[in-house]
Amino acid sequence: MIVLGIETSCDETATAVVEDGRKVRSQFICSQIAQHQPFGGVVPEIAARAHVEVLPSLIEQAMSEADVDWDQLDAIAVTAGPGLSSSLLVGVTAAKSLALRLNKPLIPVNHLEAHLYAVLLGEDVPPADEIFPAIGLLVSGGHSCLVKMNNPRSFNLLGQTLDDAAGEALDKGACLLKLGYPGGPVIEKAALHGNPHFVRFPRGLAAGDPTATSGTLPRAYCFSFSGIKTALRYYLEDNPTTFTNGKLNDVAASYQEAIVDALISRTKKVLEKEHVRCLACGGGVARNKLLRKRLAELAESHKLRLRIAAPDFCTDNAAMVAGIACADGILQPAVSPLTLDVSPQLRLTR
Ligand code: KG4
Ligand code: ZN
Repeated sequence: MIVLGIETSCDETATAVVEDGRKVRSQFICSQIAQHQPFGGVVPEIAARAHVEVLPSLIEQAMSEADVDWDQLDAIAVTAGPGLSSSLLVGVTAAKSLALRLNKPLIPVNHLEAHLYAVLLGEDVPPADEIFPAIGLLVSGGHSCLVKMNNPRSFNLLGQTLDDAAGEALDKGACLLKLGYPGGPVIEKAALHGNPHFVRFPRGLAAGDPTATSGTLPRAYCFSFSGIKTALRYYLEDNPTTFTNGKLNDVAASYQEAIVDALISRTKKVLEKEHVRCLACGGGVARNKLLRKRLAELAESHKLRLRIAAPDFCTDNAAMVAGIACADGILQPAVSPLTLDVSPQLRLTR
């Protein structure tokens, strides 16, 4: 089964051709970071226009690098949500047109599910019965969730952030620290030369009643990152010399430490209750080396297999989109190219 994947949910235009849900035959990512950098965040109009400009040639490049003819494709998969509606629309329109023109099945993909599926990409991945059930930590720019993964496409949401996502906290923190955008990589770089125990930033949701719930979710499994960001703001207001006294790296390291610590402590609580085979992690923040190290230690202490998406498959990419469309070599149900619409608010709900 050969699937062409298209991803345009935010500020990366990406295409990929994946075979049997695992083997990535080609993948291309065109990042728009340089175009958004002057604004300190993603500007939706710029993003959508940039997708329109590069997507056609990225599709052709993915097909040619994979050495696949149009008639060899078994399906076209596209991110339908969540994301910026005008950006999603570019990918979805392209996928609909291709599916109609080629008379191929069209498979809409949930971007959040695809981020978790990314842990299964690659040819060295163990069989599903050695991985599932798994606990999945999804950490992207807009989402921080803990889920039980029953199989590659079945999830139970266990916990999530009540406000900002971890990636968002890193992006906003980097802006306050005047380090640039996107925040994760620049904070990680500054933190390399800093003391993570220089300032103790809050870890969000102070330990309270362990049985308390937020909505239907146990509070013990939920995150809150908006307080960490506010604490950084106040710290910098109280200590304006941070930018000139050589302590910026220490503050960045302390900020990264607090975010990683918050992610790990909730994951640990889940692992103490749930009996699973594997700990999995995907999403842009999963590129972070400190988080990867702490997850490895956590998996080791619980004697669990660890699957963290390969760095190229953590941030937005289309291999995860084409992959989940054909998980276990079985195509997901297709939809009509005439009716598919974007779902900017799609959630991780299965
Ligand atoms: O998954 P992703 O590419 O896009 C969304 O679906 O949101 O995640 C982007 C997020 C950004 O917040 C970015 O700062 C963060 O991933 N990120 C990182 C690193 N690389 C990207 N966070 C921490 N460490 C990194 N090395
Ligand atoms: Zn993403």
